Amino acid sequence: MNKTFALKGDICFSKALTELEFYENSYLICENGRVAGIYRELPEKYAGIEVFDYTDKLICPGMSDIHLHAPQYAYRGLGMDLELLDWLDTITFPQESRYADIEYAKKAYDVFVDDIKHSATSRAVVFATIHRQATEYLMEAFDREGMAGYIGKVNMDRNSPDIYREETAESAEETARWLDDVTGRYASVHPIITPRFVPSCTDGLMKRLGEIAAERHLPVQSHLSENLSEVDWVHELAPDSKGYADAYDRFGLFGTSGKTVMAHCIHMRDDEIELMKERGVFVAHSPQSNENLRSGIAPMRKFLNRGVKCGLASDVAGGSTINMFKAVTDSIQVSKLRWRLVDDTERALTFPEAFFLATKGGGEFFGKVGSFEDGYEFDALIIDDSSARTVLELNIPQRLERIMYLGHAGSIIAKWVAGHKLF
Ligand code: GUN
Ligand code: FE
Repeated sequence: MNKTFALKGDICFSKALTELEFYENSYLICENGRVAGIYRELPEKYAGIEVFDYTDKLICPGMSDIHLHAPQYAYRGLGMDLELLDWLDTITFPQESRYADIEYAKKAYDVFVDDIKHSATSRAVVFATIHRQATEYLMEAFDREGMAGYIGKVNMDRNSPDIYREETAESAEETARWLDDVTGRYASVHPIITPRFVPSCTDGLMKRLGEIAAERHLPVQSHLSENLSEVDWVHELAPDSKGYADAYDRFGLFGTSGKTVMAHCIHMRDDEIELMKERGVFVAHSPQSNENLRSGIAPMRKFLNRGVKCGLASDVAGGSTINMFKAVTDSIQVSKLRWRLVDDTERALTFPEAFFLATKGGGEFFGKVGSFEDGYEFDALIIDDSSARTVLELNIPQRLERIMYLGHAGSIIAKWVAGHKLF
């Protein structure tokens, strides 16, 4: 791709955690899929390039949803009255087992991909199911529609019903076969090693996955310290581990093979937080899921103070919506409850901080993603906030904050990912 163009409008993005940069009625230049500057007037050297005129509209970076479950999208907003382990047994495992049927999987994944394409998300780190064929279909559809990210075939060889469990050898072999099929096949969708969580994977399987990840230098995603009963169970299942984080680390699945993201990280010991920092392991914070499943409130201020890499996530269908505007404001709201009810030394998140997490924070998992600084991949959203009527005169950050609190995902009227226009 060798194309230069500009978007014109009211531009807003994060460089640093605590402050928003904004440029009124300005030009954002894309060159070869990357940001090449912001100008109040179009410079002479760009005379004649295509300009998409979005005067009076907001332009911000696309968002990164760094943890969600594509097969759970079908039942989003349902069955929200259970805690994690009962929810997995009663709803999630039976529903995910349906993706053995490729015709069902295609129907369900087509809906998911079409909806996420039109959402605020430009990149995602996604769990599929244990089924190789359905996972390949999801990757193909995600890529075809211009979305970018990592998608994982899930591994599970214990503690789930027969219809949704693999044999250890089968799980490892299917993973290797899947990797042979999909590696390098898509422009912007890549595989990621995906042990569901410690209770779902025997030591034998974890060991094989660690070896595969190391041999092929692959990224890893999983769940960590989400629910108190889950944490107790992991301590029983892995008595030789120093703790939950170590139950991954001892198999090379904690930031040593490649980039690693762990969902939730609510009930963490200090030494585990330190290990995350040391290994560059990302926290995927899913405030809405944590509320729905009554898991708790992640100590985001602590992670930020200690320099742990963090991003936001929907965790659909623990979270009921893929709307990342909601993830931004939910993360602020739950942090206020944590400050008031749990620990008043942990200051609540501010809007600029939550916006940073949804864009540049989580975007770092994909490289130079989530900002409009020069050289960043060109992921942009155009937001029309005019239907959210007010008589007030607002500046650009205020308009952005308001549209996110109002949750108006439908206000996204155009979207680019890596320099390609999706709609
Ligand atoms: N832990 C293991 N599997 C899951 C899942 O599907 N969702 C959530 N929220 N936590 C999990
Ligand atoms: Fe999850």
